[in-house]
Amino acid sequence: MDGIAPLLTSDVIAERVRELGATITRDYEGRSLVLVSILKGSFIFAADLVRAIGLPVRVEFLGVRSYGQGTTSSGVVQITHDLANPIEGEDVLLVEDIVDTGLTVAHLLDLLRTRLPRSLKVCALLHKPARLCTPVPIEYLGFTIEDRFVVGYGLDRAEAYRNLPYIGILE
Ligand code: IMP
Ligand code: MG
Repeated sequence: MDGIAPLLTSDVIAERVRELGATITRDYEGRSLVLVSILKGSFIFAADLVRAIGLPVRVEFLGVRSYGQGTTSSGVVQITHDLANPIEGEDVLLVEDIVDTGLTVAHLLDLLRTRLPRSLKVCALLHKPARLCTPVPIEYLGFTIEDRFVVGYGLDRAEAYRNLPYIGILE
């Protein structure tokens, strides 16, 4: 597509998602998991990841808005859709498309901790360490990338490009 330089092909993403799913399956063996998909960006990643996990899984969605229409984080995280069910006593895995400044995930970890899950971990497809201002633990990480704005596989720029099957750099 015009103005988009391919960075991660759909094959490369699929292989990594399979590996993440296998690792998560091993780590949580004998337990069940509540996968919390952060909307909107993680919906495609979460859909693929959940099918790579061989455990009883419940899926919940948490809608947040952190960017408005621009490409820089405002640091303000607005909840647009809350979890539909309690997570108290559950093993919870927060699934995010990308950790950039870390503000969104840090805020959501604080929020979810107040609901007393048994455990709470983060799985992110992408991480841009260059811009990190709040350190967040990412137990399961797909890829570390340069500080470039990327789109596709769920990630958007002003709501566009989420449907690209690969991840590319917006030029
Ligand atoms: P953070 O709060 O700065 O870590 O930003 C996290 C959110 O910003 C992610 O959930 C994405 O929705 C968005 N974001 C950060 N970097 C990118 C990017 O390169 N492309 C698309 N969205 C991004
Ligand atoms: Mg976004």
